[in-house]
Amino acid sequence: MPVKVIVGTFWGDEGKGKISHYASRNANIVIRATGGSNAGHTVVANNTKFALHLLPSSIIREDVKSIIGPGVVIDLEILKEEIECLKKLGINPNLYISDKASIVLPLHKELDTYIEKQKSVKVGTTNRGIGPAYADKCYRLSLRMIDLLDLKTSLNRSFKDSLLLEDLLIDEPRCTLVTEIRDILYENANYFKDYICNTQELINNALENNETIIIEGAQATYLDLDHGDYPYVTSSNPIASGACTGAGIGPMYVTDVYGVMKGYCSRVGEGPFPTELFDEVGERIRDLGHEYGTTTKRPRRCGWLDLVRAKNAVHLNSISALCINHIDTIGKIGEEFGYINVCIAYELNDKKITYVPTENTNCKPIYKRFTGGWSTDGCTTYDELPENAKKYIEFIEDYTDIPVKYIGIGAKDTDTIIR
Ligand code: IMP
Repeated sequence: MPVKVIVGTFWGDEGKGKISHYASRNANIVIRATGGSNAGHTVVANNTKFALHLLPSSIIREDVKSIIGPGVVIDLEILKEEIECLKKLGINPNLYISDKASIVLPLHKELDTYIEKQKSVKVGTTNRGIGPAYADKCYRLSLRMIDLLDLKTSLNRSFKDSLLLEDLLIDEPRCTLVTEIRDILYENANYFKDYICNTQELINNALENNETIIIEGAQATYLDLDHGDYPYVTSSNPIASGACTGAGIGPMYVTDVYGVMKGYCSRVGEGPFPTELFDEVGERIRDLGHEYGTTTKRPRRCGWLDLVRAKNAVHLNSISALCINHIDTIGKIGEEFGYINVCIAYELNDKKITYVPTENTNCKPIYKRFTGGWSTDGCTTYDELPENAKKYIEFIEDYTDIPVKYIGIGAKDTDTIIR
């Protein structure tokens, strides 16, 4: 009964969507487990580019059940737009939305912007209301998808509870907010009613019938609320155990955890990034790798691959195989600049360390240098890859002690070498 979890190894944007879509060709069920419309998963399939925020990357395959799990916070407008977009392309989404998933209200988005403006330490959030929506959930104040199913009961509620947190911060007459929530419920109940269900029943049956399940993580290891670079993190737990919670599958069922990474690192928003490049190499990685946010279009910060963090991520997630995207991009960098660096340790307070300290803004990377680069043009198998590319990949394997299973050499899901 294979249950595969797909996680981001660094700060997101590693290409989880591409790997998840590719892996889903053999799956019965794919579950999006955490986060909300802050995620941006790009899938290039059937000559079309899909930019997904809430829907699992399997959604393009009508024969796979795509689930949005209880751990996700849902912006109804954005989800509706995504569904409509697929329908226009002739795809009928095979979609099941957990009745336990929380709803992101317009107010949450306002609060996200407001709080970010007021705070002295900026996180650089995506402004999608994620933090306030999860805060409401922790306060046990959320409106959930199940509230759309029983409008009669929901509309009779005063919504006083759902507005408690907002009341403290937003200077707006309560009646406007109540009307807004009522409108949201009215407008969306009919649209979503056929998609909302108890997804646990589906998942339990699938587990009992030995079906193949993929849990698609969103965001990534170092954006994890508990294990990332707090406070420069998101408000959910994107690591593998958080993905299990968000989906509704116990850890003993998991057979594989795929850690997705790139041949280099990137980060959006604020926070530590020891191997960040501020020179023309960093700019060139951004250009060649098209490193601009799918959700916010922000240019991403780019830098060399950090294996200290990769190894730490292996333990945090129990990664069993690595998927490395942009091996073509980093090869070109090596060709153009004559070298590629990989961080193998940090220097902190005159000491060499190989762990990730909680306070790591002052960590100075210690690099191993690879001379030259490579081109992956025309390669379809591992054996066909140039020696320099193989040396790079095998060094990552040796350092992390984890096999590299998928090697991405282009944007299309089929531009993947499997080992
Ligand atoms: P939030 O999730 O919008 O609250 O943003 C918190 C931090 O996580 C910010 O630094 C964002 O840029 C980052 N972040 C959130 N979602 C993603 C993602 O899907 N990819 C990369 N960074 C993300």
